[in-house]
Amino acid sequence: MSGSTPPAREGAPSKDSRPSPAGNQGRILSGIKPTGNLHLGNYLGAIRNWVAMQNNFECLFCVVDLHAITAEKIEPAELTRATREVAAGYIAAGIDPAQAALFVQSHVPAHAELAWVFNCVARLGWLNRMTQFKDKAGKNREAASAGLYVYPNLMAADILLYKATHVPVGEDQKQHVELTRDIAQKFNHDYATNLFVLPEPVIQGAGTRVMSLRDGTKKMSKSDGGSDYAVIYMTDDADSIAQKIRKATTDPNPLPESVAGLEGRAEAANLLNIYAALTGQTLEQAVAEQAGQQFSQFKAKLTETAVAVLGPINAEMKRLMDDPEEIDRALKRGAEKAKAIAGPVLAEAYKTVGFLPSA
Ligand code: AMP
Ligand code: TRP
Repeated sequence: MSGSTPPAREGAPSKDSRPSPAGNQGRILSGIKPTGNLHLGNYLGAIRNWVAMQNNFECLFCVVDLHAITAEKIEPAELTRATREVAAGYIAAGIDPAQAALFVQSHVPAHAELAWVFNCVARLGWLNRMTQFKDKAGKNREAASAGLYVYPNLMAADILLYKATHVPVGEDQKQHVELTRDIAQKFNHDYATNLFVLPEPVIQGAGTRVMSLRDGTKKMSKSDGGSDYAVIYMTDDADSIAQKIRKATTDPNPLPESVAGLEGRAEAANLLNIYAALTGQTLEQAVAEQAGQQFSQFKAKLTETAVAVLGPINAEMKRLMDDPEEIDRALKRGAEKAKAIAGPVLAEAYKTVGFLPSA
């Protein structure tokens, strides 16, 4: 079994290897795949938390295009469009590109280069436990791409290249951040170094696991385009949002008086979680506020809230998509900032491994 179990020893990064800009609580890195359209799960599970953290952390936000080609094939033009759209979504939601480094993963080659090293650090046993691979590969694993299998090693490179201290993500990414810690720890241990910093996942708020509007037991995801009523997109206009919420699956009972009353009511729980996340409340607070309501009244309130939050984001995304040069300029600047951090870390990793420095 040795070799498939991560080393028990805690990594001990020196203080010096941590980013320490004045007044800063650390450095965050996170990313979203440019596959399909951004949806409410991406917003509530990830982007919204990034916006809330951006003043206290040094921030890097990546559009992870290398990850986007690991699953089903995307039309090249669609990948290009979606890459800009994810960047537009970040900016429209309130990420300040002058402050954060906002960039495209493939613009910083160090990600792919460090990922190769991590392909040689991570054990097959570790990758075999990844639930996202199992879900995405489905029954026909033989037909899955090798890229889908080593996907978590590339994600580890994304994070460790910047010595990120915190990684704000939705619940589904927790296992990947834990694997990232295992990779950092094994590298540090095997090469007797403290180069890599062990990152903490930050999974917070009521929107860390937004479910499909049609089936409260299924995660809302970009690949669930099948039933378009299942997913609220960040680009949806007020009418589509209203229609989707109106058609959302519910049950015949009024909303419960307490969180315990949501047991066995996945759809009610999901809509209340969405409402809580949109209004910045805890689930408990949202349940107390809506106790005893009929779904029809609650859905009207939820629609009003969702439109008020998403409407301005939607309008700004449209404006930016009509001005791709503004997006591209921000991404260029972001890639330069990212490279300035990633370059020396990759060089240090290569030196640590013993690669002959290039002349
Ligand atoms: P992806 O769209 O898979 O690249 O995910 C990008 C980010 O959005 C990650 O932090 C995910 O955890 C988060 N995310 C994706 N889907 C959901 C969802 N249904 N609920 C909450 N967070 C999500
Ligand atoms: N794997 C993440 C997802 O599917 C996307 C991602 C890639 C990511 N690299 C990352 C998230 C680095 C956080 C940090 O959602």
